[in-house]
Amino acid sequence: MTTRRSHDARAVVTGAGSGIGRAFALELARRGSRVLCADIDIDRASETVRMIDDAGRGEATAIFCDVADVDDLRTLADRAPDLLGGPTSLMINNAGVGIGGKAVGAIGLDDWQWALDINLRGMVYGSELFLPQLRESRRGGLINVASAAAFSAAPGMAAYNVGKAGVLALSETIAAELSGTDLAVTVLCPTFVQTNVAADGRITGEAMKVAEALMRRTGRSAEQVARQTLDANDRGRLYVVPQFDAKAIWLAKRLMPRTYAFGAGLLHRIQPQLAVTRSVTATSTGAETPTTTARKRIPEGV
Ligand SMILES: NC(=O)c1ccc[n+]([C@@H]2O[C@H](COP(=O)([O-])OP(=O)(O)OC[C@H]3O[C@@H](n4cnc5c(N)ncnc54)[C@H](O)[C@@H]3O)[C@@H](O)[C@H]2O)c1
Repeated sequence: MTTRRSHDARAVVTGAGSGIGRAFALELARRGSRVLCADIDIDRASETVRMIDDAGRGEATAIFCDVADVDDLRTLADRAPDLLGGPTSLMINNAGVGIGGKAVGAIGLDDWQWALDINLRGMVYGSELFLPQLRESRRGGLINVASAAAFSAAPGMAAYNVGKAGVLALSETIAAELSGTDLAVTVLCPTFVQTNVAADGRITGEAMKVAEALMRRTGRSAEQVARQTLDANDRGRLYVVPQFDAKAIWLAKRLMPRTYAFGAGLLHRIQPQLAVTRSVTATSTGAETPTTTARKRIPEGV
């Protein structure tokens, strides 16, 4: 094994069937690694493996894993050393889902649980179960895919924001715990990346249109983000905040927290979709009657 963690690695990538996860798997294979492509959609994971086979460098195996199911994650951790020919040297907790468009109070407990099980618990348990194997490798690496949502507190995205904030806190804590060792943890915090996350998620109404437009117009490519993150982990860097807008949010939140909170509130007030959700919630408590226009704009499922 070379000294660069992403080269000739024994790697596990969750959510490897699409988007950033697929880009991680392809780039790792290009760097001569063996990759276990785990996904809840085994057909998509198998397609990633076919792409790696066609490229003719690296080795890959597709495996079913629902990261929301701790037994699946345990099985993945147990089987990885056999399938990779040794203990996992690089674990990428990437699988995640998009959710947004409703304010707290209108999200519903089922959606909260769905989002946190995948986006938070999946990465917490993935880190817990794989760290012992990473410690067995000479220079192990852990990459957790969070988001700029971890620190942006954008209105209408609470279920997503909370999960990603947890992943950021988890990664920062692990970084302190790995200090002085040869292991490195990296947390990826992008704004928009061009993938299927919005189309496949639970994003409702106007929020979906906004997410798709921003992804199309401002989204980085998954390949670029994956390469940058692997290089950062090779160098032992904790944070990858790839885009300018994510960096600006990060700085504004820390330097001017009250101004930032005011701006986020303003955004909430001018978002028509959230205004509708607020009026519907108020109606259910008898406080207000929604207008006809507002009723027309209520998305399915509210
Ligand atoms: N695309 C963006 O703009 C963006 C921005 C910030 C963070 N992220 C994060 O990047 C990560 C990857 O998402 P993406 O954008 O590539 O989306 P994507 O939808 O293209 O890919 C996600 C993959 O995860 C798989 N998956 C979903 N639920 C799963 C589960 N329970 N168990 C195992 N696999 C599951 C899907 O089948 C899919 O193959 C996510 O954690 C997402 O939150 C994405």
